[in-house]
This record gives sequence, structure tokens and C-alpha cells, in this order.
Amino acid sequence: MIGTTRNKGRIKQLWTAVGTVIDGGRQQQRAEREAEIARLHVRDGRAVPRHIAIIMDGNGRWATNRRLPRLMGHKAGVDSLRRVVELCHDERIPMLSVYAFSTENWGRPRDEVDGLMRLFWDVIQSDLDRLRREGVRLRHVGRLAELAPDIQDAIRDAESVTSHNDKLCLNICFNYGGRAEIVDAVRAIVANGTPADAITEDMISGALYTRDLPDPDLIIRTAGEMRLSNYLIWQAAYAEYYSTAVLWPDFGKDDFLAALDAYSQRKRRFGKLDDTPADPASPSESVESGEAAVREVPLHAEPVR
Ligand code: FPP
Repeated sequence: MIGTTRNKGRIKQLWTAVGTVIDGGRQQQRAEREAEIARLHVRDGRAVPRHIAIIMDGNGRWATNRRLPRLMGHKAGVDSLRRVVELCHDERIPMLSVYAFSTENWGRPRDEVDGLMRLFWDVIQSDLDRLRREGVRLRHVGRLAELAPDIQDAIRDAESVTSHNDKLCLNICFNYGGRAEIVDAVRAIVANGTPADAITEDMISGALYTRDLPDPDLIIRTAGEMRLSNYLIWQAAYAEYYSTAVLWPDFGKDDFLAALDAYSQRKRRFGKLDDTPADPASPSESVESGEAAVREVPLHAEPVR
């Protein structure tokens, strides 16, 4: 009897010790994450976006201004994208998302759609090795299954060979639409048998294609338009928006740095009255919330569809 009581006491002690180790580990993990977030967000006293999303607009106008076919504008747009990837590298921005083909773009003339598909495939073939060597992780965001099989294969291959890279995560939004993404997310939640009143914002965020990515801090749109055009409409709820008249193929270092400068002067309040400078964490991804903090770790997460 006494032996049993002593054993129970030992087991309790052991559990307490295990609990301390686990909890201590969590605390340490969280402290490391907080330090990492602070390091990425504020440099030399300036707020720096950790995730930039770009609506690369104006390729067609750039080409038309030069009496060139529109596809030449998209090709010049690829050069501009290469430049911006380098700039993100230089400025230590860990994540860049670009809107390369929307679900609405299928409605463009057949030769332009075919040209954009071919261009995407060509760019993967020509740039993949360099991106891999430079530490860029490539990810596709959008409806993969609707793309041609050879493009799907190229995307899977690109994601696989760059999956361990962590210098920059480059999300190519290709056959992407924000409304389609929300529809897909709600369908998945309902298919799971979730009752209507149990559905939460975090649950929807967690079912989006971007479920393991942080929301964008800064959305840049070129060519002067002032709209989101169905781009990351859920994730953009608290993003800072920056529009420039510069056409995408002309977007260079000065334009990029001007956008970063504008961002550093914004006050992000996330709907609150706090007037502190740019806050790295939105309400739903506060470092206070354990699950949301996991969404803050984007670079090694698994690809999502
Ligand atoms: C919008 O400009 C741009 C697009 C629909 C495509 C963007 C594609 C690229 C920059 C190149 C492809 C990217 C990869 C990753 C291969 P627009 O054609 O609507 O320009 P406009 O408004 O002047 O007509």
C-alpha cells in the first residue's frame, strides 16, 4: 500500500518534471519567435515589411507604348520580377508574393493566355537552378488542378527542389483568385462536417491556400490603378496599400525603395486606437495566440493547395 502511494508520488513528480520541460520548451520557442519577428520587422528603427505582395500591372501598356505585342510586355515584366527578387534579397525581405495570372485572366484573348502559360513554364525552366542556388523557395498559390499537366509538373518540381531554401519565399499566384480561394476554403470546412456556428475567422484563414503564410504587410500595385482586383482579398484586410503610376516593366530599385519608405512611415493600428509604429502582428496572428504564432513561421511550411 505504502509502496503504491510512493509510486503515485513519483509518477506525479515525473509528470510535473515533464510538464516543466515541455512548457519551458514552448516558452523558449515563443521567445525565439518573438525575437525573430522583432528582428525582421524593425531595422535601424524603421519598420520593414516581412511579406510584400505585388500586383504587377501595366505590362500591356508598356508594350503598346512601344508598338510591341502585349506578350513582349509580359516578358519585360519577368525581367522586372527578377530585379525585385534581388532587391528583396538585398533588403532582407523574407517573403514576396506576385500576382502572375488571375482566375479572370482566362478571359483574355487565346494567344495572350497561351503566351502567359508558355512564359511561366519557360521561366521555371530558365530560372529554377539559379533560384535554388540563391536560396529562394518557390511556391505556387492558386488552383493547380486547372493548369495543364506539364505546368503542374513543373510547379511541383520547382516546389520540391527549393523546399529547403529559406532566404526568400517567392509565392507565385498563378490561376489565383481571392473569391475562388474563399469558396474553396468554405467548401473544405463544410465538407469536414463543421457546424455553421463553429466557423471562425481563424478556421477560414486556416483553410486558405495561404494557410501557413503570414498575411501581407504591404501590397504594391503598379500602373496607377487603385484596386485589389481579387488579390489576397481575405489576407489583405490590414495590409498597407501602395500604388505607383510606374508600369511594372519599368519598376526599379528607386521605386521599390520608395514603397519601403512609404511603408515605414505608416501607422498600423489594426482597427485599434494605439498609435504605436507599424505593428508586426495583426489581431488574428498575434504572438499572444499560440496557433496563430505558428502561422508566423512561413519558410519551411509544406505547400498547400
Ligand atoms: C497585368 O498587366 C499583368 C499580368 C496579367 C501578368 C503578369 C505577368 C508577368 C509579370 C510575367 C509572368 C510572370 C511569371 C512568374 C512567369 P496587364 O497585361 O493587365 O497590363 P495592362 O493593364 O497595361 O494591359
